[in-house]
Amino acid sequence: MILVGRPEDVPPGDAVRIEAGGGSGLPIAVFNVDGEFLAIDDTCTHQDASLADGWVEGCTVECPLHAACFDLRTGMPSGPPAKTPVRTHEVVVADGLVYVRVAESVEAAA
Ligand code: FES
Repeated sequence: MILVGRPEDVPPGDAVRIEAGGGSGLPIAVFNVDGEFLAIDDTCTHQDASLADGWVEGCTVECPLHAACFDLRTGMPSGPPAKTPVRTHEVVVADGLVYVRVAESVEAAA
């Protein structure tokens, strides 16, 4: 698992980007949705944009570049221009710290 930080490091409605290391090595975005932590691949599947820099509304993040929206629970895009889901990752809160268990592949995350 990868350490994200303390819960207060990710305020409600906000997100942080962490480096996944190993595996795909892709960065991961961790969101706080009303106190619930949700993690997805940070890079939009349309082009190279950071979803941690996007706008969060409810359980959805809107890509800052071309406004595709992704469901933070499923990783599914709600419409164009993105067509491919982002991976979702399990978030674990233990001993007062937030961790991400990185999914091995898109299939494993589905
Ligand atoms: S880069 Fe995200 S919608 Fe285009």
